[in-house]
Amino acid sequence: MTKTFKKLFFAIFCFTLLSVQANSQEGDSIVDIRQQAMQAIWERLDRLSTLIARPGDIIATSDGSSIVIGSNEETSTAETYALVQGREALQDASEITDLLKQVKDFWPENTSAAHIDYTSAETLVWLIPEAFKRYYMDAVFASENLEISLNNGDNEKIRRSVCMLSLSCGRCHAAFRKVRFDNLRKEGRGWTGSYASCWMYRNEITLDSTSIRK
Ligand code: HEC
Repeated sequence: MTKTFKKLFFAIFCFTLLSVQANSQEGDSIVDIRQQAMQAIWERLDRLSTLIARPGDIIATSDGSSIVIGSNEETSTAETYALVQGREALQDASEITDLLKQVKDFWPENTSAAHIDYTSAETLVWLIPEAFKRYYMDAVFASENLEISLNNGDNEKIRRSVCMLSLSCGRCHAAFRKVRFDNLRKEGRGWTGSYASCWMYRNEITLDSTSIRK
């Protein structure tokens, strides 16, 4: 696919999200849309995790093959990302920001587990909505910071930003998302924020929870 076509495809996807939001009164489709958006976010973060891959890690490439990261750190920079993944890291990061923003308000009361049985959202989302919103905005800040880091091209900052983003997913999921058996099978490390190369940043957040937004 050409770049323009990909952009167009993404625009259509976003437009569909918005029009369903506008037309639908149904809790069902709201849940479907937020789950689809989360999957689309995950697909992008999964690619972005190439940027924090460590020697010996195996990553999937855009043509379906796998490569093992060598001892040379340069394998996991934004320049090689485009070669391995067939698209720009910055595009993935900005699409994550867009997707997060688009389903920011897809959590109305009538979509809790009391109303929609297949939602994996914990009732806690509606019991402590302020905390949910704060975690949500943490993720938005983290993906915007990743865009900034990628624009600046500082590899160390890029790695930290990818980690802060994946930790923001994991932190929210730990509190607000039920883990179901069928999820467990397909769940990746980014869902839980448990990439080995991110442990040092996890400590940083434990000491100062606002550092996830920096
Ligand atoms: C503020 C909370 C929050 C943040 C931040 C968050 N998620 Fe989620 N996520 C949820 C909740 C709640 C669900 C369950 C949604 C449902 O089933 O209705 C979910 C579900 C998912 C799912 C499963 C969707 C499905 O098909 O059932 C994936 C994949 C996912 N999130 C990935 C991510 C990734 C990757 C990030 C970080 C970039 C992220 N999420 C950030 C709260 C969050």
